[in-house]
Amino acid sequence: DSSRLSFAVKTNANPMPEAERQAAFGNLGFGTLFSDHMAVIRWHADKGWHGAEIVARGPFALDPASSVLHYAQEIFEGMKAYRTEDGRTVLFRPEENARRFNESARRMAMPELPEADFLAAVEELVRIDAKWIPQGEGSLYLRPFMFASETFLGVRPSREYIFCVIASPVGPYFKGGAKAVKIWVSQNYTRAALGGTGVAKCGGNYAASLVAQAEASAQGCDQVVFLDAAEHRWVEELGGMNIFFVMEDGSLLTPPLGGTILPGVTRKSLIALARDQGLTVREERYSFDQWKADVASGRLREAFACGTAAVVAGIGTVKFADGEFAIGDGATGPVTTRMREALVGIQRGQRPDPQGWVR
Ligand code: COI
Repeated sequence: DSSRLSFAVKTNANPMPEAERQAAFGNLGFGTLFSDHMAVIRWHADKGWHGAEIVARGPFALDPASSVLHYAQEIFEGMKAYRTEDGRTVLFRPEENARRFNESARRMAMPELPEADFLAAVEELVRIDAKWIPQGEGSLYLRPFMFASETFLGVRPSREYIFCVIASPVGPYFKGGAKAVKIWVSQNYTRAALGGTGVAKCGGNYAASLVAQAEASAQGCDQVVFLDAAEHRWVEELGGMNIFFVMEDGSLLTPPLGGTILPGVTRKSLIALARDQGLTVREERYSFDQWKADVASGRLREAFACGTAAVVAGIGTVKFADGEFAIGDGATGPVTTRMREALVGIQRGQRPDPQGWVR
């Protein structure tokens, strides 16, 4: 499948000077530095997809009545470009992002973008901004997104959309780097109910998580973990990543997708990698009560968060309204480390890629 759109390229006349970029690369966090260009494609109900272009990154002029500003019709993706040691530029399973983007689009009553056009937009941007991919540990985080741009206050799907891809050189998502993270169990707020939008990657899900995330920060935690909306009992996912548990017998457990959980590409890849290594992976519901009991009995050995931004991050401490407990010795465990290394090795072209995940 090749893209049906061709991208008009208008090079940025004022790119960031090389020395300035290199200086910024010395201290990379997450999502604060951006590359010189962006990919844009527009959609209109009468015209379909049109106007594909690569242009200097910059503000959009939006009418104050643009429907995204009122009813939050917006979806996004997260993916990364890496530079391999032998100098190739690679993407990790970008087709998965293209497919999930359209699943999100359907849930939010937005037009689907043909996968080949999604991939072409991402690849054109990475090609023109390849020098923005940091060497070594860092990567170029890619953020494809689409929003409702029609000037209209009625509540119905917009008749106009803007699809855009921006790129941000990133280091570790968590300030502590590779240190095990501390998470806060939200027992008041929930993230998603069956039939809701939890399964879609829409901005609204993240907006709804912010007050719980702020509570987590106030408690000295890095991330919030949500329980299910119906019973406030089953572990679902973190504010912006999925969760895995490592049991005493070496098996892994992760909550099943079931409609309220974001189907992470990292989650899916880790399940496949673990099974390849002969580990048992169960996608089963796990209650917070069971979690506490298993930590107390020693049956639970490790837990980790995973996502494109976070990669694989050990969970060292769990805090909640009535107490706090450490998992293992509170540091990142050996299975977590092995899973992280196996994944990162493939993503960065350092290990064999039998499944053909790297493009
Ligand atoms: C990602 O992992 O790419 C996400 O979209 C989640 C967000 C915490 C950055």
